[in-house]
Amino acid sequence: MRPLIAGNWKMNGLTASSAALAHALRQGIGDLAPEMLVCPPATQIAAVATILDGSGIRVGGQDCHAQTQGAHTGEISAAMLMDVGASYVILGHSERRADQGETDALVRAKTEAAVAAGLIPIVCVGETEAQRLAGDHEAVVGAQIAGSLPPDFAGVIAYEPIWAIGTGRVPTIGDIASMHAFIRAQLVSLHPNGGGLRILYGGSVKPGNAAEILAVPDVGGALVGGASLVVDDFLAIARAA
Ligand code: 13P
Repeated sequence: MRPLIAGNWKMNGLTASSAALAHALRQGIGDLAPEMLVCPPATQIAAVATILDGSGIRVGGQDCHAQTQGAHTGEISAAMLMDVGASYVILGHSERRADQGETDALVRAKTEAAVAAGLIPIVCVGETEAQRLAGDHEAVVGAQIAGSLPPDFAGVIAYEPIWAIGTGRVPTIGDIASMHAFIRAQLVSLHPNGGGLRILYGGSVKPGNAAEILAVPDVGGALVGGASLVVDDFLAIARAA
C-alpha cells in the first residue's frame, strides 16, 4: 500500500492563506508517489477541495459528529464533510480528547458515523509523557484501540505520542518501531483486516526526520501538523516517503 502523507492544519488558515497553500501544493506535487491528504479547518474544506480537485491531493475534515443530523448546534456531520469534498476525517485527535473531553466511546461512535457516510476515518491514539515514563504507553494505546474502533474497522490509525506533538521531540526510531509493531498486533487480534490497515506516525515530523521515520516497518505514513503549513516542508516530507 502506498504511504499516506496527511497534513493536519488544525485551527490555522483564513480564506487567502488556505487558498495560497492549496495552490502551492497543487503546483509543487509533481508526480510524488505517496497518497497525499490535507485536512484544513472546516470553513476552508470546500474551497481547498475545489482548488485541489483533480490534483491527486485529497481533502479531509478534522472531526465530525456522531449523529447524522439534527439539533446539535455548531456541529458538523460526516455527510456534510463528504458534501463539500472531503474523503477522510481525523477523529479522536489528542487535542480533542483533551480540550473537548472526547472519550474512546465517543470516538468509536464518530468512527462508525464517518464510515457510514463514506469517509475514511483516521483514528488517533497516543500516550502522555507521564504515561510513557511510567511504562504504561502500550496499555494506554491498547485500551484506546480497543475502545475507539468498531469491530469491523476499515480505516487508518495514527499513533501520535502527545509529548511529541508540536514540541520538536520525537521518540527514538526503536520506540516508534516497537509501538507500531504493538499496534499492528492489536489490530490483527481485534480486526479481520487488521494486517492491512495503515498506521501513521505523527508528532514533530519534519523534512529532517521523515525518511528515517517512514522507513520503520509498520509505519504507513505520517500525520503532520506544523510542517504541513509550510509547503516546501510538507512536499519534502512527501518526497521522503
Ligand atoms: P506536529 O507535527 O506539529 O507535531 O503535530 C502533529 C499532529 O498533531 C498532527 O495531527
